[in-house]
Amino acid sequence: MSAGIHRIVILTGAGISAESGIDTFRSAGGLWEQHRIEDVATPEGFARDPDLVLGFYDMRRAALEKVEPNPAHAALARLEQEFAGELLLVTQNVDDLHERGGSAKVLHMHGELKSALCTSCDMRSPWLGTMLDRPPCPVCQARTLRPDVVWFGEMPYRMDRIYAALERCDLLVSIGTSGAVYPAAGFVQEARASGARTLELNLEPSEGSRLFHESRLGPASVLVPEWVDEVLSRAG
Ligand code: OAD
Repeated sequence: MSAGIHRIVILTGAGISAESGIDTFRSAGGLWEQHRIEDVATPEGFARDPDLVLGFYDMRRAALEKVEPNPAHAALARLEQEFAGELLLVTQNVDDLHERGGSAKVLHMHGELKSALCTSCDMRSPWLGTMLDRPPCPVCQARTLRPDVVWFGEMPYRMDRIYAALERCDLLVSIGTSGAVYPAAGFVQEARASGARTLELNLEPSEGSRLFHESRLGPASVLVPEWVDEVLSRAG
């Protein structure tokens, strides 16, 4: 299916980082069974109990130090280096495993754990430490930092750029995402409307599985390197 492929959009979700040891959201025992979305992933939850929210993201940011990228992240980095056409890697993940796996260009549509957003000056700053202790914003010094992550009810980042790429692409590949959260869950229909092929690589059929031309089931650490080999061998 990779013959004649010149423009690829890849969408990744929590499943690509699962084998690195990061909990997905909707699996049994996943993050949304341990915490209520309304409490830790909405602006209202943050207004109600900022300590709970800041502590939740401090914990997830700290957990990044204990995990490593897996072969799926590495394979996408290889694709970025070796694919001669256009490639846009969009992730819903707020971890930094794509970057640590070697991808230089990653669009984090749901933000990043290692970034802080100041609610006073609206500036973003790289962030490695904690926020629960209310450190000052490096730009304006106000003690009003929040995690630079997109919460339910907020607009994901860079949607213009993503929709433009979906309109032009000839292949959309969705990796490790349940297809439960819009707008990302709608990318498959956008791509198909533009005439693109669509491929899903996931452990189990996602909610939108039947919308894809092809669905391959298995662990990302196996399926993604196999698919990248296939694309590069046909392109080369
Ligand atoms: P989910 O937890 O909803 O779905 C993860 C998907 O990955 C499931 O379909 C699993 O079957 C699959 N999966 C698990 N392990 C896998 C593996 N080793 N290889 C391949 N697939 C595997 O996570 P997302 O779809 O990323 O948003 O969730 C989307 C958004 O919902 C997140 O970005 C987050 C969450 O609420 C916000 O917080 C705004």
